[in-house]
Formats: sequence, C-alpha cells, structure tokens
Amino acid sequence: AATSSTALSGLNTKFTAKGKLFWASFSANEAILESEFGAVTPENSMKWDATESTQGTFTFSGSDYLVDWAISNSKIIRGHTLVWHSQLPSWVSAITDAATLTSVIQTHIANVAGQYSGKLYVCRPLPLRPCILTIYSEVLNDNGTLRSSVFYDVLGESFITIAFKAARAADSTAKLYINDYNLDSNNTKVQAMVALVKRINADEQLIDGIGTQMHLSAGGSSGAAAALAALAEAGIDVAITELDIAGASASDYTTVVDACLSTSACVSITSWGVSDANSWRASSTPLLFDSDYEPKAAYTAVISDL
Ligand code: XIL
Repeated sequence: AATSSTALSGLNTKFTAKGKLFWASFSANEAILESEFGAVTPENSMKWDATESTQGTFTFSGSDYLVDWAISNSKIIRGHTLVWHSQLPSWVSAITDAATLTSVIQTHIANVAGQYSGKLYVCRPLPLRPCILTIYSEVLNDNGTLRSSVFYDVLGESFITIAFKAARAADSTAKLYINDYNLDSNNTKVQAMVALVKRINADEQLIDGIGTQMHLSAGGSSGAAAALAALAEAGIDVAITELDIAGASASDYTTVVDACLSTSACVSITSWGVSDANSWRASSTPLLFDSDYEPKAAYTAVISDL
C-alpha cells in the first residue's frame, strides 16, 4: 500500500477531539487511510452498476473488500450510493412502469443495504456515529427543481420516500443521507434541499442527514460556512461528503474545515480520495496528499488548524 515517508499527525484523531469525524473515499492508499482517516466511503464499488449490473444478480466483490478492510482496521463505513441517476445500468433506465420501478428500487436497496446490515457492527461501538448510507444522490437541479431521471420521470417525488423507506427497512440503525453537489453556498439549491428534506420528513424522519459533496475550485470555499448553516435549518445532521478542491491553496482547505468546526450540525468531512495520484480530478491536484503520497501544505494547515 502506498505510504508517506513523512511523519503524519493523525488528522482524524485531531478532528475526533473536536467531536467530528474525518473520512476518505476508499482508494489504494491504505496505509495513509489507516493512520489519517476514521472512516471510508466506497468510491465506486457500491454503486448500482457495480452491485447489480444485471437485474437480480448481485455482486459484492469490491464492496466486500472495502467492508472487510474497514472492519479489520476499525473504520466506520458509509454505504454509497444506493440510488443515483449516474453509473446506473441501462436496464434500470429503460423501465417505464411505476410498479416495476418501485419494486426494482426496493429489491436493489434490500439487497445492497441488507448485505451489510449487521455486518457493519464495527460501526456501532465506535465513538461518533453508526453506519451511514447514502440513499439518494443528486436529486436536484441548480434552480431547485427536481432533476429529470428515470426515477423522477416515472415516479415523481415519491421515488425519494420509496428509497428511504426501503433503506430503513433493510438497516434500521444506519443513518440515511441524501447527497448532492453545488450545495457550496447559501444558494437556491441549498434552499430547495432544505425544503425537500422538511417535506419528506414532515410525518416521519426518513432522512437523517444531508451530504454536501463540495467538489470545489480554488477560492470556492468562501461560501461553505453559509451553506452548512443554511442546510442545518433542515434540523438533521449535515456532512461534507466528497471534498476535493481543484488547485487548492492551504487556506481553501482550512476555510472548509473551519466551516464544519463552527457548525454544530456538521458531523464529518470526507476527502474524496487520499492522493492526487488517484483522484477522479487528478489533473487539478485537489487532495491533501500529492501524487507521491506526501502530505501537502493543505494537510499541514488543516492539522495546525485543529
Ligand atoms: C465519482 C468517482 O470518483 C469516479 O471514479 C467515477 O468515475 C464517477 O464518480 N458524485 C458522487 C460520487 O456521488 O460518487 C462521484 O464519484 C462524484 C460525484
């Protein structure tokens, strides 16, 4: 496993002392994950195309590897993402009938969340949070309307309730999250997300947390504190779920960390990857570790901020 030759300072240990958790999406950098991060999110291995590319045939090889690694290293696990319009097999996108699509969503969630329900026992004794599942990713357009997808087009807004109820049935103790991008300032989409969560949760709390991905550009972190404060108005946990900052200066990172520290509803930050070597935005060097797995100035600045 790739490792740093520089002594590291225990990023998550410091963040945990402030009552929050530092995660990373799971990657090849297992040694750094082990020492610096308290929790892992599968980058791709739990998505629909990885777990049910053929209807009714479930494949868990990638996600089982991650879950086994996390359990043996005492890391909390986020299941990500059960339903999303992207990385979605074409057999799902082709469904036009509401009853069929409802049952397909329910079967998918029952199997994927069910595969790890109970196996994620390692999450529960750990200090902060139980296991977390991202149920639905990217339901909104930037103008606040619901995004067109097979789910919305066939089922209307009810697809969200269907998915969250199925997840609750499959794993009664996991925290269930809705997750979206461009929730980076107190903008129209943030307001629409808060309204959506309040609407869905009106009768019964189905959604336990809002994930703001925060795939940012240099300078783009200035709205983070306002975004988190506005999202907290929904009355549930808020997490930064996929942080990376293209061309980031160290202060871009500390601005985001400070925003989470100053918002009590903000429970965690997840770095979307560990090293620039295998970031999905590698050319923009957006992470805390460089492509030689050495900590960058942003890492040092975050550590001294904590
Ligand atoms: C990305 C992965 O990092 C890439 O490897 C993959 O090719 C595409 O998906 N929003 C999400 C994440 O919820 O799962 C996405 O991850 C980035 C956008």
